[in-house]
Amino acid sequence: MKYNFPVTKTTSPKEKPNPDTLKFGKTFTDHMFIMEWDKENGWNNGRIIPYGPISLSPAASVLHYSQQMFEGMKAYKHSDGRVVLFRPDMNAKRTNRTNERMCIPQMDEELFVECVKALVEVEKDWIPTKPGTSLYIRPFIIADDAFLGVHPAEHFMFMIILSPVGAYYALTGDGLPATSIYVEDEYIRAAPGGTGFAKVGGNYAGSLKAQEKATQKGCSQVLWLDGVERKYVEEIGTSNAFFMIDGEIITAPLHGTILPGITRDSVIALLEKWGYTVKQERLAIEDVLKAGQEGRLQEVWATGTAAVISPVGKLCYKEESLTISGGKTGPLAQKLYDTLYGIQTGNVVDDMGWTVEV
Ligand code: COI
Repeated sequence: MKYNFPVTKTTSPKEKPNPDTLKFGKTFTDHMFIMEWDKENGWNNGRIIPYGPISLSPAASVLHYSQQMFEGMKAYKHSDGRVVLFRPDMNAKRTNRTNERMCIPQMDEELFVECVKALVEVEKDWIPTKPGTSLYIRPFIIADDAFLGVHPAEHFMFMIILSPVGAYYALTGDGLPATSIYVEDEYIRAAPGGTGFAKVGGNYAGSLKAQEKATQKGCSQVLWLDGVERKYVEEIGTSNAFFMIDGEIITAPLHGTILPGITRDSVIALLEKWGYTVKQERLAIEDVLKAGQEGRLQEVWATGTAAVISPVGKLCYKEESLTISGGKTGPLAQKLYDTLYGIQTGNVVDDMGWTVEV
């Protein structure tokens, strides 16, 4: 390893959670990674310390103007004991694209991956292996200057915390559960020129109101429409959205308003390898509904690091509701989940070269 980060071990290790009852993002491991940035030294003082509260000035600019970013990735333990990450170079690249938009300093991509590897190595006993589980990795950066003027900060903290997680949507005996999705036609998530493509907390805070509406309507997530015409499908909740119509797969293009998902990219690569046509183009919600009514909408699913593959069984739009794949998980969504999670966990051969050993 090129970097050697000092490790301060906890004196009070926690008990590992029961893998049978793991939820998403509720438990945290014993240690965390922390590193700082200032003009003189760049990123410096990377270290692993016991997990715990951090000290911030109440004037820290992240608390007022949200100059921050985060990433989401996962670690898996294979049956031979190998610990792997899934395409961590993609998270490093996306971090820099987000940082560029948010006036946060760039980070050497190799350094980003080495920080993640170093913490995962220390915490490898926390990686759960029960089907559907993994170790969720949350790298993030905050601006911690104590200054109330609005301008890019001059001091940042990069941190990584880890959380052993179960499935984002609870698995049933029959496999992946199909979700009900509410098509949001009032609030928007992103607009051209905004921060839709960047992984920043503000995108998620702004989505909560619509999520609340979806929950009231008995749906688990929101399908976002474009912010200009509220016409074209963009994302599902915290994930990218895929629609299979007449045997072809359509997903929104990366034109700045949707998150360039790593699972999205991997799913496109797998589908193309299997001979499917994948179109990255705008798709009007009216065309989705029409295809549904004419029996041409075969499957809909969402993709994301947290959710992996999340099939959609029902779409609710205005007063209409549309059942998809008989309200169940479609065969292609299931195959994608089995393949992707299989590659990640070492149960399917990684002929794409996506897994990286820690
Ligand atoms: C992820 O899939 O990693 C995400 O960022 C979703 C998260 C907000 C739960």
